[in-house]
Amino acid sequence: MEIINRRQRMSSVSRKVRRDQDRTIGLVPTMGALHDGHLSLVREARRMCDVVVVSVFVNPAQFAPGEDFERYPRDLTKDTAVLTDYNVDYIFAPSPEEMYPKNFSTYVTVEGLSEQLEGVVRPGHFRGVATVVTILLNIIRPDFAFFGQKDAQQTLVVKRLVRDLALETEIVILPTVREPSGLALSSRNAFLNPEERQSAAVIHRALTRAESAYAEGERNGAKLASLVRSTIETEPRARLDYVSVSDADTLEKLDKLNDKTVLIAVAARFGQTRLIDNLVLNQRDGVKIKS
Ligand code: PAF
Repeated sequence: MEIINRRQRMSSVSRKVRRDQDRTIGLVPTMGALHDGHLSLVREARRMCDVVVVSVFVNPAQFAPGEDFERYPRDLTKDTAVLTDYNVDYIFAPSPEEMYPKNFSTYVTVEGLSEQLEGVVRPGHFRGVATVVTILLNIIRPDFAFFGQKDAQQTLVVKRLVRDLALETEIVILPTVREPSGLALSSRNAFLNPEERQSAAVIHRALTRAESAYAEGERNGAKLASLVRSTIETEPRARLDYVSVSDADTLEKLDKLNDKTVLIAVAARFGQTRLIDNLVLNQRDGVKIKS
């Protein structure tokens, strides 16, 4: 395994793999602090591709001032040790100056999708995500790139930008990995104290109640949202940011669900930590979603 810090070296290694060796490349983009959710992506990349690249870059462009950029967990030594066990070929870990050279001034905005849900609370977040993902896809030109369903809106933004900009990478989305309590794995869980961690499992319980109501025939979006909200509000440590019931492709708010594929998305705070999670109802293409 080689750790690469330079854009140019990463491009030339990838070009060689693709052209001279005719091998496929899988990219797993991460911000490090790797957990089993990331590792499920790495495992699938290893299974599907000849060469696996994991990028580790805490992207300043996707954090607004006052968010947790400074305290976001970073431990490249530990991440490297983990990825060695997973037989990863390359770690791409550039510095911010390498990723955003002097006078950097080109940003990618996926209009519409970026302004909903997380985009309301975190303006500019998806512009940062779309920009860094575009740079990564251009440097590495992977055949496949792997993302987790936990960041549902991010997966839509990435799939849209790949389609709109005619990039050649296929986007593979894999299911959310959870703790036994149901809490979705996230690097930010490291900030939760034991009580907050226990409380945070209420998000998944609330989503599961909505899933059961849907299975029993409930098709009213407002009623499902209210069920999720009232369940989360039973937990005194939870401060709910939003519950949204929307079309899973466009993020348009839905009142009548009919036979649509529906995304129920939640954001809530536990102490200083903001968590997101979601549930997809009536998903047509099964567990693994490809663009
Ligand atoms: O999901 C993440 O960890 C980040 O948003 C990503 C996709 C690596 C871009 O910085």
